[in-house]
Amino acid sequence: MHSAKKLRLGVLGSGKGSNFVAIAQAIQNGSVPAEVALVVSDVADAGILQHAQERGIPARFIPPGAFRTKLDPTAEAAFIQALQDAQVDLVVLAGFMRILKGDFLRAFEGRVVNIHPSLLPSFPGLEAWKQALNYGVKVTGCTVHWVDQGVDTGPILAQQAVPVLEGDTVASLHQRIQEAERTLYPETLARLADGAWPVKARSIPNP
Ligand code: GRF
Repeated sequence: MHSAKKLRLGVLGSGKGSNFVAIAQAIQNGSVPAEVALVVSDVADAGILQHAQERGIPARFIPPGAFRTKLDPTAEAAFIQALQDAQVDLVVLAGFMRILKGDFLRAFEGRVVNIHPSLLPSFPGLEAWKQALNYGVKVTGCTVHWVDQGVDTGPILAQQAVPVLEGDTVASLHQRIQEAERTLYPETLARLADGAWPVKARSIPNP
């Protein structure tokens, strides 16, 4: 007899990995019925790789190639292969700083999620917390969404509002948004793993 197969996550990140740590902790304490099969980074010394290694989770640096904002074709193929080899069901972008499109999204169609530090569709793109502060909005937040061919445009799964406070700086607002992310992302993944929204096609059938 087999228990239900856990959702296998492939986490991609370029930075310090605080969202990954929150996800890994939520999995460990039993609130997200999933497992991280692989962490991949385009940055050799990214904190996210170190956090994964400390937890005994397979972690790989894959060189991104010559472009600055996307993967070159060889790198894209290597990312796809690594995630497929790890039998990943869902690709979780956690601070991955390159735009994924074309072959990658076709390989994982309907199976890529991202967290963005604003209430989309407001403030897509870089430094969204700074865009929000400069604009003067009174409420911003974070959004978990499916990834499509656009930049921060895919269907929204969940959002958390964060008020902009009197005297907020770029740093203080960013910090409170990141705190909200560390709750919202694991909660949303828990709902995904529980089947709240269909993950398009699992890479392998349930045993
Ligand atoms: C997060 O703020 C997320 O919104 C953005 O990149 C940042 C990643 O931070 N996409 P971390 O590496 O998870 O600490």
